[in-house]
Amino acid sequence: MLKDGTGREITYLRISVTDRCDLRCIYCVPGGRGHCSAPHKTVSRDGIFGLIRAALKHGLRKVRLTGGEPLLRRDLTELISGIKEMGVADLSLTTNGTLLAQKAFELKRAGLDRVNISMDSLDPGVYARITGGGDLRNLFKAIEESVRAGFNPVKINMVPIRGINHLEATAFARLTIESPFHVRFIELMPIKGSKWGVEHCVRSDEVLQLLKSSGMEILPRGDSGSSRNYALPGAKGIIGLISPVSNHFCASCNRLRLTSAGIIRPCLFADTEIDISRAKSERDFEDIFIKAVNSKPPGKESGAFIPLDSMSEVGG
Ligand code: 5AD
Ligand code: SF4
Repeated sequence: MLKDGTGREITYLRISVTDRCDLRCIYCVPGGRGHCSAPHKTVSRDGIFGLIRAALKHGLRKVRLTGGEPLLRRDLTELISGIKEMGVADLSLTTNGTLLAQKAFELKRAGLDRVNISMDSLDPGVYARITGGGDLRNLFKAIEESVRAGFNPVKINMVPIRGINHLEATAFARLTIESPFHVRFIELMPIKGSKWGVEHCVRSDEVLQLLKSSGMEILPRGDSGSSRNYALPGAKGIIGLISPVSNHFCASCNRLRLTSAGIIRPCLFADTEIDISRAKSERDFEDIFIKAVNSKPPGKESGAFIPLDSMSEVGG
């Protein structure tokens, strides 16, 4: 199995399939810059398949499709069935949920294993403010249809933002009592030039403290990937804490990212980029994949800030 310079195996590929989005979350679009405008260069299906085929030869097991909003990509169903047919064991999707209610069954049939739905508030007004006009009713429908379609578990991503939604953490945690949801609290990663800086980031330890001080008993449930897991007593679901700011997991990082423009970023916090657009043959893709693995830095290089203009191109 191929290993990088510090002995890490790359088994996980995160692919931003489009940078377009029908929402504008405040932390994702710095300064309110619209990224839903004219679509520009978007990675082709052949490019995605080529890279996955090469990575599978070297131990790839897990692929996540993200964005932008992946459901805005017209060939998403074909992408999913193609990737699954190639033999990827675990294929998941991160979505804002706006279009998911109508598509959940189709995506499940195409071979999608799991979904993560972004939901940053349970209050319609706060949700609309964070997402730039999103309708919370769509999201509840999306969650319901995902469960009906058989996705298990359905994961809910919540980014606590100080002074906006962070006091809702307890209400989100309570969602896990009756339903087998995985509610994941993700630390806000300040993006270069964004006004939503570190002072708005609510660290995982503080989330835990918030839950405990509301009287909740929090039981540790081990780790999975980048998530530290907990559960409430007798709850059907899981609470996960993802700490890209306070406790990065560089030493065990097993991932590469492919941006919507067809560029591999070996590390979210470094600006190394490897373009796949000139790759044609299987050999080309394999060379590029090996080069990307070898150029993965040992860890964070740029402190707390991500050297990006937006999260949507590289994928949240
Ligand atoms: N910090 C933390 N999470 C982010 N996401 C997008 N931008 C950021 C950021 N700056 C999350 C979204 C969603 C997933 C796509 O990534 O909330 O859950
Ligand atoms: Fe769209 Fe996701 Fe960015 Fe929100 S965080 S604007 S849903 S890509």
